[in-house]
Amino acid sequence: MEKIKAGIIGCGRISSVYQAAFENMKDEVELAFVVDKEVCRARKLAAAFPGCGYSDKLEDLLKQPLSVVHVLTPHFLHKEHAVACLDAGFHVLTEKPVALTTEDADAMIRAADRNGRQLGVIFQNRYIEGIQEVKKLIEQGKFGRITGAFSTLNWWRPPSYYECDWKGSWEKEGGGVVIDQAIHSLDLVRYLMGCEPVKVKGHIDRRILTNIEVEDVADAAITFENGSVYSFFACNYYTSNSPIRVEISGENGIALLTQNEVLIQLKGQEPRTIYPSVGPDVKGEAYWGNYHEIQIRDFYRCLREGRPVPTDPEDAKRTLGLVLDIYRSSRENREIITERQATE
Ligand SMILES: NC(=O)c1ccc[n+]([C@@H]2O[C@H](COP(=O)([O-])OP(=O)(O)OC[C@H]3O[C@@H](n4cnc5c(N)ncnc54)[C@H](O)[C@@H]3O)[C@@H](O)[C@H]2O)c1
Repeated sequence: MEKIKAGIIGCGRISSVYQAAFENMKDEVELAFVVDKEVCRARKLAAAFPGCGYSDKLEDLLKQPLSVVHVLTPHFLHKEHAVACLDAGFHVLTEKPVALTTEDADAMIRAADRNGRQLGVIFQNRYIEGIQEVKKLIEQGKFGRITGAFSTLNWWRPPSYYECDWKGSWEKEGGGVVIDQAIHSLDLVRYLMGCEPVKVKGHIDRRILTNIEVEDVADAAITFENGSVYSFFACNYYTSNSPIRVEISGENGIALLTQNEVLIQLKGQEPRTIYPSVGPDVKGEAYWGNYHEIQIRDFYRCLREGRPVPTDPEDAKRTLGLVLDIYRSSRENREIITERQATE
């Protein structure tokens, strides 16, 4: 199989997960060029891949004969970096969130369209085996009508986590625990519901982590098109990184995700648990989802087969829209009627 040439922009914390994935995928993908404004980080990542070039300038990457670029930079740079790469003729897989605003996400989608290139967004937790099984059972109607959902995230981000030039800032991170950590829970519930939120009443606050501008806690009641209410809670000031929990409740049963394990209890059936295939030895933290390699492999498979890549940027934009509606609801202290509901 001819190897696909790939590049990376942003060689910070998450790049070690990509390094491990590309080492495992070396028969099909060649990591050929990496960029970081801190050139020592780019040099270190490049050193793990024979022949891989590196630079501290995006322009150097844009001149390379690459097919795909992975955008692993701070949130406020996703749009600029993705659009530059799409305009250079590369396919792009960007980290979450797709961008800081839905207008920026639209600009990225337009760039993909005008260049005939594909844009995907990482939401690796959709690939957890139990989540895939629950999605299938919901679509088959096995849960009956979906009546509600909850998610809780209690994690710990020490002050040192925010000691960098973008975390903890509205302008650069775009928010706190909601846009950065709990976006995965919001995305999973949207994905499983199979329909969109119509009303959002949310509240955010900064209670413990006083060295940041953004929220360290948030809760919301989110009503979906099917009438079910999703109860959302997230905070970054717990004593440790406790497993996230996401529960979907239907007329005929419930499904509960705890970290990467899913318990399914359907009426009249023995409860069963679907365990993750991805073990603790895989690079990445299990508590935030170590399914990156599986999504990255799926991305390349779709490119080879000429199919739409995951996650569709319109879909990722809707998850971003939900994040932004929680912020707006809190800022304006009112229930937000989402765009979808308002246009009906
Ligand atoms: N999917 C997940 O579960 C998950 C987990 C962690 C991080 N992430 C995402 O990955 C992205 C990066 O997060 P991180 O924790 O690795 O951040 P980080 O700060 O550790 O790394 C960002 C890197 O980008 C580099 N950079 C900044 N501006 C640049 C520029 N103009 N040109 C080139 N390089 C530049 C920085 O020097 C840094 O090395 C974010 O979008 C974050 O949300 C996703």
